[in-house]
Amino acid sequence: ETGYVTYDPGFMNTSSCASAITYIDGDAGILRYRGYPIDQLAQQSSFLEVSYLLIYGELPTRAQLDAFSEQISIHTLLHEDMRRFFDGFRHDAHPMPVLSSAVSALSTFYQDSLDPFDPQQVEISTIRLLAKAPTIASYAYKRSIGQPYIYPDNTLGYVENFLRMTFGVPSVEHPVDPVVAKALDMLFILHADHEQNCSTSTVRMVGSSHANLYASVSAGIHALSGPLHGGANEAVLEMLAGIQAAGGDVASFVNRVKNKEQGVKLMGFGHRVYKNYDPRAAIVKKAARDVLERMDKPDPLLDLAMELEEIALADDFFVSRKLYPNVDFYTGLIYKAMGFPTKMFTVLFALGRLPGWIAQWREMIEDPSSKINRPRQVYTGATERDFVHIADR
Ligand code: SDX
Repeated sequence: ETGYVTYDPGFMNTSSCASAITYIDGDAGILRYRGYPIDQLAQQSSFLEVSYLLIYGELPTRAQLDAFSEQISIHTLLHEDMRRFFDGFRHDAHPMPVLSSAVSALSTFYQDSLDPFDPQQVEISTIRLLAKAPTIASYAYKRSIGQPYIYPDNTLGYVENFLRMTFGVPSVEHPVDPVVAKALDMLFILHADHEQNCSTSTVRMVGSSHANLYASVSAGIHALSGPLHGGANEAVLEMLAGIQAAGGDVASFVNRVKNKEQGVKLMGFGHRVYKNYDPRAAIVKKAARDVLERMDKPDPLLDLAMELEEIALADDFFVSRKLYPNVDFYTGLIYKAMGFPTKMFTVLFALGRLPGWIAQWREMIEDPSSKINRPRQVYTGATERDFVHIADR
C-alpha cells in the first residue's frame, strides 16, 4: 500500500517478483489495475483503454487512445499463409491449442519483431498480438464449425470486429448487438490482468529466457487452458448442465463436493489469493442477470448457479475453507447467452488476459535487474548409491 517494496533479490529469482501493474488484496477482495479500482474501470472504461493503461502505465489521452486503436485496426488481418495454417487442424480441434499454435506461429511470420530489447520490435509485436488475436480466435471457431473465415472489418470497434468475424457469414449481413458488444468489452476488462497467476507466471518464466513475446504468450495460453485456471469457465457450464440433467438437485451435488467424491469440485469457486468474494465475480453476477434479460435469453442455469452459491455460502465446508465464487463462476452463462459454445469460453478469457500478459512480459524485459527464472527445489529423492549393472539386477 505504501508503494515501497523491499524484497530479497534472491527471492525474486525463485518464486515471485515485484510488479507495478496489478494490486490484489485477497482478504479484502480488492483488485486494481495501475491503481484504478476494477469496478470503476469495468463501468467507465473500454477494453482498449484498459489495455493501454496496463501496458503503458497511464490512462491515455484521447489522441493517444485514437492512435493506439488505429494502429491495432490496421494490423487485424492475418497473412494468407497464416490463414491456410488453420486448414491443417482437425475440424474438431479445441480452439485453445489452435490459438496457442497460431500465436506461436506469428513469430515465424513476423521475424522483424522478435528482439525483446529493440523497443520498436517490442511495440510492433504488442500491436500485432492485440490486433491479430481476435482474428485468430474467430478463425479457430470458424474452423471448428466448418464455416468460411470472415475477414476483419476495420471500420468496426475491437470487440464488434471480433463478434462479426465470429458469428458473421458471407451470405448475410451480421449486425452486432450493442448489448453483447458492451458486455463482452466489460468481461474482457475484468480478465485483463491478475498479477502473478499461473498463466502470467508462465509468460514471465518463458520470457525470462529472452524468448520473444509471441512464444511467451503462446506458453501462457496453454497454462490458461487447464481446468484449475482459465478452463474453469468451461467446467462450470458442464457442472451446471450436469446438475440440471440429474434433476437439478443442488443440495445432493454440494454433498458430493463435500464428500470429495472422485475429486468433484465446485468449479468456479475458490481462489489461491482471494479468500473473500472475487470482486470480478460480483460484477459478472450482476451483469449476468442484466445481460440475459436485455438479450431476452433467460437461462435456468443462472438460477441454478445462484442457488448453488447461496447453499455453498451458507455451508461451513465452503466458508471455513474461504471458498467463494471466482471470476469463472458466472462468466460462462453470459458467453452462452451470446452464442459462444463452451469450447470458446477459455479463448475469451485468453483474449481478455492478453494485455496483461503483454504488460507483465514488457515489465520484466524492461527491468535491468531481472534474470532468468530458475526456481530451486527441496530434494526428496534417493541418497547417493552405486550403479548396478543390469545383469546383476
Ligand atoms: C482462475 O491465480 C489467479 O489469479 C487465477 C485467476 C486469474 O484471473 O488468473 O483468478 C483465474 O484461475 C480462477 C480459479 C478458477 N478455477 C476453479 O474455479 C477451479 C475450482 N477451484 C479449485 O480448483 C481451487 O479453488 C483453486 C485451484 C482455484 C485454488 O486452489 P487452492 O487455493 O490451492 O486451494 P486448495 O487446493 O489448497 O484447497 C483448500 C481446500 C482443500 O480442501 P481440504 O484439503 O482443506 O479438505 O479447499 C478445497 C480443497 O479440496 N477446495 C475446494 C475447491 N477449491 C478448493 N473444494 C471444492 N471445490 C472447490 N472449488
